Amino acid sequence: MNIENIKYKFTKLYRLINLQFQNIRLSLFYKKKKNLLFENIVKQNREYLNSFDYFLSYENYLNNDYGIQERIYKDLNKPIKNYPTYSDLICFFYINHFTNKFNYLEIGCSVLKNVLQIKNFVNNSNIVSYDINEINPDLKDKYFEKINDNNLVYFKGDVLKKEDYTNFKNDLNHKFNFIFSDALHEPHAVYSEFENIYKDILDDEFIIYYDDLDFPGLKDTVREIKERLSESYEPLNFYTFKVYGWIGQYEALHLNGILTNLDIEKSLLEKDIKIYNFKKIH
Ligand SMILES: C[S@@+](CC[C@H](N)C(=O)[O-])C[C@H]1O[C@@H](n2cnc3c(N)ncnc32)[C@H](O)[C@@H]1O
Repeated sequence: MNIENIKYKFTKLYRLINLQFQNIRLSLFYKKKKNLLFENIVKQNREYLNSFDYFLSYENYLNNDYGIQERIYKDLNKPIKNYPTYSDLICFFYINHFTNKFNYLEIGCSVLKNVLQIKNFVNNSNIVSYDINEINPDLKDKYFEKINDNNLVYFKGDVLKKEDYTNFKNDLNHKFNFIFSDALHEPHAVYSEFENIYKDILDDEFIIYYDDLDFPGLKDTVREIKERLSESYEPLNFYTFKVYGWIGQYEALHLNGILTNLDIEKSLLEKDIKIYNFKKIH
């Protein structure tokens, strides 16, 4: 066995041990925290995910990887445990704040795994997905299938390309109260989304939800966005917490964050919901 091989095996083992420890910590954290509303959301989302044979066929994956590394692709269809993912949390915020009208924009929707759970959960909502790729051919029909009176739009565009985000905004006829930022996890790209895509199209009350804030520089970028938005919205809160991402327990918890002018601490408290590592960032 050569040195590279040994290194690879050690890294893999370290990752697996780490995942197991994280799982134990999570099960201890959520053990005594019973919440029926949240349990129902998780149950509905897991049942829905289990109804898919696959999210992207291997043949199509070889043509276009939709930002999915091989390691992630092999776990994309596996069942996820009942600990919260970002999809569950988005559904929770919908129920608590946006049932009147949900105007949801997902920037970076990849194979549509998250956005389809949202579409399945919500009613009478506008759901818009923005991604650099053509829509996933395996789930295109499912995406546009009419259910729950939801209105679906897919926009193919690059968050860094002026022509794309200008066309995107020119085609819009409403604002958004929920933005899920999950495209290119680099500071200049996350800032560009804010500056060029959603800064001017936020509803009076909104949540901006960020994935992967543990990527280099992203937490500081969101701090900067908060500073800018605070000029127009007061009070504006920034929270971070840890939840599972699109492949659940098969990868480490993601550091996620929220910028909002809504009192989400109150809704979490009222519903007695605790989220692992939930912190208010000052
Ligand atoms: C992490 S995946 C999104 C996962 C998805 N939100 C989910 O949970 O199911 C990131 C997506 O952003 C896309 N992306 C990367 N760079 C982009 C850019 N410059 N503009 C738009 N989309 C981009 C990737 O191709 C990929 O489809």
